[in-house]
Amino acid sequence: MSRLMATMDTEMTQGLSDDPEERRKTSLQMAPSYIRSLLDGTEDGDFLALDLGGTNFRVLLCKMCSGKCRSISRKYNLSPETRSGPAAGVFDHVAESIYMFLKEENMLDQKLPLGFSFSFPMEPLSVRRAVLTTWTKTFSCPDGVGEDVVDMLESAISRRGDIQVDVVVVLNDATGTLLAGSYVDHTCHIGAIMGTGSNMAYLEKLTNVKKWDQDFDEPSQVAIDVEWGAFGDNGSLDFLKTDFDRAIDAHSHHHGSFTFEKLFSGHYVGDLLRLILVHLTERGLMFQGRGLDKLGVWGSFKANYISDIEKDTDKNVTRTWRVLEALGLTCVASDDDVAILRYLASAVSIRAAQIVGACLSVVTRRSKRTRSTVAMDGSHYRYHPKLQHMISAWLAHYVPQTTVNNLTCSPSVLPLGSLNRDRAYRGIIVDHFKQYSLLRWRVSKHREVAALVRPSHRLELCNAIMVIHGYSTLLSA
Ligand code: BGC
Repeated sequence: MSRLMATMDTEMTQGLSDDPEERRKTSLQMAPSYIRSLLDGTEDGDFLALDLGGTNFRVLLCKMCSGKCRSISRKYNLSPETRSGPAAGVFDHVAESIYMFLKEENMLDQKLPLGFSFSFPMEPLSVRRAVLTTWTKTFSCPDGVGEDVVDMLESAISRRGDIQVDVVVVLNDATGTLLAGSYVDHTCHIGAIMGTGSNMAYLEKLTNVKKWDQDFDEPSQVAIDVEWGAFGDNGSLDFLKTDFDRAIDAHSHHHGSFTFEKLFSGHYVGDLLRLILVHLTERGLMFQGRGLDKLGVWGSFKANYISDIEKDTDKNVTRTWRVLEALGLTCVASDDDVAILRYLASAVSIRAAQIVGACLSVVTRRSKRTRSTVAMDGSHYRYHPKLQHMISAWLAHYVPQTTVNNLTCSPSVLPLGSLNRDRAYRGIIVDHFKQYSLLRWRVSKHREVAALVRPSHRLELCNAIMVIHGYSTLLSA
């Protein structure tokens, strides 16, 4: 972890440099967003928001009043064909969805200000102009790269001619999360996403942004879109990759890129666990060596299966059996297979939490703030029962002054900010450690599995062993 953190720190500095040679060394885009102020709760009015980047496209109507935001949102599925067809098709779908939303809300005659959350790497030119750098995740349109995102949206809207909007801002979803965070907690200075893909944005002092060539007027700060999804594309994270990570990369739409997000984000993490299962099953160590026809299918093990397995607390491990049922594996699975599966789900989740916690702590340390809040969102984060707690725990370990708020406002959110932090993070770690070591004990009875898992995955099996050492050190500290 210390090597990961040191690499991140160096590459952030390189990405902010005014020397193009230095910037060429880093895999972090560190794009200044032109957003200089966050929200302070006084932003009142009705706004439309678009959220494009995952499998679904969302249109939202946000009513902001006295520091509170009420919103209505609708999802519009984007088919795989649209996601891999011409970029104009994507934006036509967006325009059609806006039309359907406004019609449904009886608002076709209104012209509302619109904020566009576009969850792809961009080179911002101003607050409402940004050029698409590359498609990522499940999008592989043959064109659109190098074009202005707002132009593409406005062209699609004028092709229809039946809706009117006023695009006032285009931003990345990580920057959007940072802004949303600042609306409810003014100490928020980092926004991070763990969804289909992953990213982080934070507020940086202009004096640190050496490449900044605009004015230095107050507020002398700017939101930086780090684009950490591509962290390691220059080879700097090769030391962290396992054979499973390499297989994921080889099979992905974006081969050789988006190294960091492929380690844990929602679009890849199901396959990561599936590949480990295939590996064990091929050697006859799970599922009686059977079921490979089902396990061998890419995309068959969804990220939400990991969340389901991690939610299992009852004696009968009902949720894990349900996952096996969905995979068509119940007739070949034993109780021991269930224990191993739970161990692996826990291990990939721990790796995700520790990596994200460590990298967030780098940004928090650099900011030298005594109190800071990280806003997080994204489907994988939101639906996973333990990620928030584990990330908070690792953050509290690396930077004890940090509070993590989950701004998805799910009722089950542990209000870490309001707890005695020391007790809170220790409690979380102790709990998780107990559950994890029970599973590990169960799995260790399978000497062959344990033997196979250890040498062949080393850092690998999601750094599970190291994590356990980390936990023990923490517990004995
Ligand atoms: C994109 C980022 C985005 C992240 C989360 C990544 O694949 O490159 O721009 O913020 O996914 O949606």
